[in-house]
Order: sequence, then C-alpha cells, then structure tokens
Amino acid sequence: MSHIPANKLLSVPTDSLQILPLPHRDYLLSLVIPTYQERENIENIVKILTYLLDESIPGEYELIVVDDDSPDGTWEIAQSLMSEYPQLQVMRRQGERGLSSAVIRGWQVARGEILGVIDGDLQHPPHTILQMLDAIGKGADLAVASRHMDGGGVSSWNFVRRFLSRGAQLLGLIILPEVLGRVSDPMSGYFMVRRSCVVSTTLNPVGYKILLEVIGRGNVGKITEVGYVFCERKQGESKVTWKQYVDYIHHLVRLRLSTGRLGRFSQLVGFPIGRFLRFGLVGLSGVFVDMGVLYLLSDPTTLALPLTRSKIIAGEIAIFNNFLWNDAWTFADVAMQQREWRQRLKRFVKFNLICLAGLVLNVLVLNLVFNFILPNRYIANLIAIAFATIWNFWVNLKLSWRVTQVK
Ligand code: GDD
Ligand code: MN
Repeated sequence: MSHIPANKLLSVPTDSLQILPLPHRDYLLSLVIPTYQERENIENIVKILTYLLDESIPGEYELIVVDDDSPDGTWEIAQSLMSEYPQLQVMRRQGERGLSSAVIRGWQVARGEILGVIDGDLQHPPHTILQMLDAIGKGADLAVASRHMDGGGVSSWNFVRRFLSRGAQLLGLIILPEVLGRVSDPMSGYFMVRRSCVVSTTLNPVGYKILLEVIGRGNVGKITEVGYVFCERKQGESKVTWKQYVDYIHHLVRLRLSTGRLGRFSQLVGFPIGRFLRFGLVGLSGVFVDMGVLYLLSDPTTLALPLTRSKIIAGEIAIFNNFLWNDAWTFADVAMQQREWRQRLKRFVKFNLICLAGLVLNVLVLNLVFNFILPNRYIANLIAIAFATIWNFWVNLKLSWRVTQVK
C-alpha cells in the first residue's frame, strides 16, 4: 500500500469519469463523503464512521471526503483530522463541481473492492452501512439504503418535499422504468456497489442522482435494499434547489437516449448518434441565426449592406451561437472537465476553424452536386449542408471537445 504523507490532499482526476479496475485490493470498502459547506458536521461524521468501521472492519476501509472548495473551509477541517484518523483521505476540487461528479472522482482514487457513498450531514444513519456490507457479503452487487422499505421513512419532510420526491420518482418510472423500477428508492444518495460492476464504463451524471447512473450504465446484477430513516439535519442546510430538479430531468433524458435502442445502436456502430442529433439541432438553430442576421444586414428594407460582407458576419455569428450551445449541451460532459477560460477559448478557436473549413466543403459540394449531378440548388444545398455537418461534428468531436486521457 503506497504511503501517502500525513495531511496531503488527494490529487483530483481530470480525465473522463471512468472507474478503473484495481491493480491490487487495498481495502474492502472505500466510502466517499461528498461535502459542500459542512464545517459543523464533518468532524462528527468522520468520528462516528471511524468508531463504527473500526469495530466491524478494522483496517479494511478508507474514508474519502470530496469537497468542492467549500467557502466555510470544510476541506481544511477534514484535512486537519487526517492526522487523528489515518484512514481518512481528503480531495479538494476547485474547478469541477456537483454532488454526482464528486462521488465519482472519489471512487476514481479509491482503493477498495466496494465503493460506497454517504452524505456528510448525518442525515444518513451510519449504522445502515453494516447492513449494506452484510448484503454485499451475501452476494448482492448493489446495496441501497431505502426510505421506502420496511423500517424506512423520512423524519419530518413537509408535504411539498415528499410530493416532489415521489413526483420525481414517478416521472423517472415513466421515462426510464428499467432503471428506476429496480429499486424502491431510486433517489437514494446512500448506497454501495461492487467496483467490478462499474469499472470501464464512463459514468456521465448530472446533479444529485448518482444511483441512476450506477444502475443505468453499470453492470449490476443482484440489488438488495435496506430500510433507513432519513434524519433531520442538525447543522447547515440542504443544497437542493430547483436546479437539481432540472438536472434530474436532463439526466433521465440523457440516460434514456444512451441506454435505449438508440444508445445500443450507436455503441454497435461506434458513432455517438445521440450527440450527433444534439449537434444537428444546434446547427439548425445556427441556420435561423444566420438567416436572421443576413436579413437584418443585407435586406433592402433594413441596412442593405453588401451581400458577401453580410454573409460573412452572419456566418460568424451563427458559428458563435453554435459553439455556445454545443459547449453547454452537446459536449457538456467534456466541457465541464475543462472549465478554464483558456481551455474554452481554445475550443472556440478550433471550432471556428473547423466550421470555416466546413463552409469551404459546403460550397465545394454545393457546386459539385449542382453543376454535375442535380441542377436543383436547394436540394444540392441540403446535401452540401449534410456533408458539412458530418465533417463539423466528427472533426470537432475528435479535436475540439476531446478528453485528453491524462495518465
Ligand atoms: N462535493 C459536493 N459538491 N458535495 C455536495 C454538493 C456539491 O455540489 N452538493 C451537496 N453536496 C453534499 C452535501 O454536503 C451533503 O453531504 C450531501 O452532498 C447531500 O447534500 P444535501 O444538500 O444535504 O442533499 P439532501 O439532504 O437534500 O438530499 C440527500 O439525500 C437524499 C436522500 O438520500 C442527497 O444525497 C440526495 O441525493 C438524496 O436523494
Ligand atoms: Mn442532507
């Protein structure tokens, strides 16, 4: 086991969200504690978990706090605890943010056979871990702490929170029944899974629901659920906002697209069809932007500027529009790992050059088809746009939004 100097923070992985197989097993359990603004809770949760796991699996576990640079200094407090709790590791993320990606980054550096997650605010009763470990020991691939099993429940959630949670679950059952239908509490953020079930799949979550990603993209066989009561927070407050609900719907749709028939076909042909469809929709929005700006600049009833100059300005504004949407939607999972403005500027310059080359290809194909194959300018233009779109998509996928596998 490689010795890590005391109080040294873990380095943050920057490549794609993939869990690798272990070269050798150091621990039975790696338990990730995602934190944001948990300064009043962090020492308590580490102390309680240490007491519990020293009793049951001494020397066989590690705790990994993954903090997103909490302004309240949660990561500093956790770091100061490392000398007292040798099995504690701490990761401070400063670029990437979000509960689900925090859990996966923790699992990426984990050295345990079983990967687990527990909230850092003591709302997930720690003793349930022993029941989940027992379930995995008895052959389950995934053990989930569920509020909707015998012995489960929520402390004193108001009607709205209960309604939203159950409503979200119902929506998920409609969009992704084969995932959410496998457990009674798909919203649970408290579970553990065998590493072997999630290795070499690129997990791609948004928001809070990491369990959906594990069931949807992992290779999970037997699932066991154990009832638990979701406790009231004693310190701090929940970070759940309306954004988590929007992320949740986005996550469901994305999982639907990538794990349904379309997703399996695109894996079969090795072409990301879902992403290409998004790229095409963004391109369509660019056509409207291009046409609109061309009208405003060159139409005799507006500014009546020269056509070529208007077209160049319109084309460039459309390219900028397309870059913004592609960076925020089509390739969001890649862009969120390269957030610095220099990285974003570099992507924009590459995207621009590739699209300008695409414009040249567009004009060449248009003339080729119109003059030698089909003398109908509009059909020829559609064929030319199709060629240019495939060129733009494929070259941007390979050059602009590429995850450099940093070893
Ligand atoms: N690193 C990191 N980054 N941690 C975060 C972030 C983030 O952006 N947002 C929240 N956390 C941490 C919090 O510090 C806490 O430890 C845990 O994730 C849960 O966050 P809460 O804001 O307390 O969520 P909740 O209590 O409303 O809901 C939780 O429990 C539900 C039932 O299990 C979440 O885990 C939900 O996903 C879960 O459904
Ligand atoms: Mn909470």
